[in-house]
Amino acid sequence: MRTYSDEEITAFGLNPNRIPNHVAIVMDGNGRWATGRGLPRGAGHRAGVQALKDIIRFTSDIGVESLTLYAFSTENRKRPKEEIGILCGLLIEYFNREIDELHSNGVRILSIGDLNWFPTAVQQTVREAEARTAKNPGLKLNIALNYGGRAELLRAMRLADEEAKKTGAEPDEAMLARHLYTADSGDVDLLIRTGGEERVSNFLLWQIAYAELYFTDVKWPDFTRDELIKALQDYAGRERRFGGLKTDGTK
Ligand code: FPP
Repeated sequence: MRTYSDEEITAFGLNPNRIPNHVAIVMDGNGRWATGRGLPRGAGHRAGVQALKDIIRFTSDIGVESLTLYAFSTENRKRPKEEIGILCGLLIEYFNREIDELHSNGVRILSIGDLNWFPTAVQQTVREAEARTAKNPGLKLNIALNYGGRAELLRAMRLADEEAKKTGAEPDEAMLARHLYTADSGDVDLLIRTGGEERVSNFLLWQIAYAELYFTDVKWPDFTRDELIKALQDYAGRERRFGGLKTDGTK
């Protein structure tokens, strides 16, 4: 829920009229953050969860409507069991610790991806957080867990096909989009990837069709509010034409 006034947003160096509706983040670089400090990778994930708190709070306070976070991809299932166990533990710990505050800030939590793959304790924790916050009016916080963009599209196509057969309607883009996990959040305006790689990695393939892309070398645990402000300033300076022309007719 937006809590800052236009003046306060301007004081952060942001343009209140150029705040993206939907921000998506690939939170990369936890492992390298840790190994660079001689720490185990799990310490990087823990620091990564720590970094989340202020980013969620700030996006909510400046009035971003949806924030979609890539917490665990279908490809991450290939990681060693031990690391997966650490991530699952951190997830449960995170929800137990933060859910009250998220709820009181009006955040609505939705997991996207195939949650059934996770241990029951993770499923229960996430489902409880979703149920408790389902009617909240504020920031839509979508957390990608065992998520893959191609798998999401395949699922949406199947569901759209069922709908078309049932209703006799011709499948179109709007019908498919209604069956995406993120249907309520719409297209992504700004996709941020930390950690130095410049790839999309099977994240929100449909939703990023016209997204502005922002890559930074900063590793996720070091991605502070100031780094987010830089990304938002960069976004505000982009000219979004959606395939059309500028208003003066030039390209
Ligand atoms: C990428 O770093 C990060 C992940 C695979 C996990 C991201 C998860 C979190 C920040 C915590 C869990 C989330 C929630 C919502 C509680 P990497 O390990 O690929 O880093 P590397 O590229 O340096 O190896």
